[in-house]
Amino acid sequence: MKKVNHSYTAEIFDTSQYTKQIKKENLPTNITTSQHPFHRWFNFIAGFSPEFVHACCAEIDGEVDAILLDPFAGCATAPLVASQRGLRAIGFDAHPVFARIGRAKLASHLFLQELDWIEKAIKEGLENPKPLSLLASAPLIFLSKLLPEDSLKMLIGARESLKKNNLFESDLAFLVLSKIVELCSHSQTDGIYKAPTSRKKALSPFEACNKVTEMIRTDLNSHSVFNYHQQASIIFNSSEAMSEVEDESISIVVTSPPYLNNFDYAEMTRMLLYFWEIATSWADITDKVRSKLIVNTTTALRGHKAKQDMYRSNIPNQIHTHLDVIVEQLREQRKIKTGKKEYDFLIYPYFSQMTRVLGECYRSMKQNAPIHIMIADSALYGVHISTPQILEKILDSLSFRNIKCSLVRQRGHRWILAKRDGSETGLGEYHITAMK
Ligand SMILES: C[S@@+](CC[C@H](N)C(=O)[O-])C[C@H]1O[C@@H](n2cnc3c(N)ncnc32)[C@H](O)[C@@H]1O
Repeated sequence: MKKVNHSYTAEIFDTSQYTKQIKKENLPTNITTSQHPFHRWFNFIAGFSPEFVHACCAEIDGEVDAILLDPFAGCATAPLVASQRGLRAIGFDAHPVFARIGRAKLASHLFLQELDWIEKAIKEGLENPKPLSLLASAPLIFLSKLLPEDSLKMLIGARESLKKNNLFESDLAFLVLSKIVELCSHSQTDGIYKAPTSRKKALSPFEACNKVTEMIRTDLNSHSVFNYHQQASIIFNSSEAMSEVEDESISIVVTSPPYLNNFDYAEMTRMLLYFWEIATSWADITDKVRSKLIVNTTTALRGHKAKQDMYRSNIPNQIHTHLDVIVEQLREQRKIKTGKKEYDFLIYPYFSQMTRVLGECYRSMKQNAPIHIMIADSALYGVHISTPQILEKILDSLSFRNIKCSLVRQRGHRWILAKRDGSETGLGEYHITAMK
């Protein structure tokens, strides 16, 4: 396969055959994803750019039988780039929707024929709409806000047709119909649910089906499908324990963990969790999805609240004082603020879980292997949480070497802290690098 040289030293870097040029500030974003075959099948607002992964991987060009690991794979940007560059890849995601989307993108060598069957089954279903009474009550209320009634009936028809045609377990069918549902919604979903009030143009189910299948067929026909895809896998599990990965087997880690209080990955996928009957109520979503993910949202789960001491004790000692101060400040703020968000219960679980994941990365990495982490800092109730610097300290205590952290971009105006805590500094996204 053709090797591509990428340099990550300039403000703008050349990503050659994969896309034109990308500004450094766009590296942590999904802005270019729609230009990349395979990646574009399902675009995810929390995803990083394929160019970022290419640049990281250039470092290990030439290494034989190299394996990339992404413990937070999302829609499989990193494993897919690895495959395209001839590396093997292992990704983890504990979210049932993302794990299946990622698998679908990676197994595309199987798909031209399967795509024909899927399209046929979906169209058959669209022609045979099903009654909304097939939906449980919370999904019915929620999906009715996001989709026109006729479209929803047709889409349920398509889902049932996949079951009838033994395609319900197909990851590609899951991706195709998920994308169709998204295109049929008149609310802004962006690959994920945002808010029923943010409007966009809705396609009819047939238009959406044609659009999605044509895009996938074009990519499968016009790019020699990478044989390497067989060697990439997505494991649907939390990366806090990566027992599937052998000690000292990984050549490079490229990842972007959940940012503290940025996205609720369960909430943002509520449309699909309900549509696919993965969950039938908010409590169900919390139980089946949120509780499996790194804690990172406004409300800590009950289980986390009760185990604060345990989480604290899992975090390296040298960070305790720093975190204790933050937790105390957040506790004080909660007493004053009307919202009363329990941010103070998030800090120990978040950094404890991140310590476990990074410890697992260390175990599975080869000597001298690099790790690349894209992460942001946050401000909760005006209290600044310097997540990148705290992760650097965790890496250090785990014995990682050559730890460096650089600002990739400042985030927009609403993140400026000036009015909130007197600081002039806005929040940013950072690229941490280190090696074992
Ligand atoms: C910032 S996103 C990663 C996006 C990815 N880089 C991409 O380009 O699509 C973080 C991901 O971590 C996943 N995640 C959260 N907690 C996890 C856990 N404990 N184990 C594995 N994945 C987890 C979320 O479901 C989400 O997909």
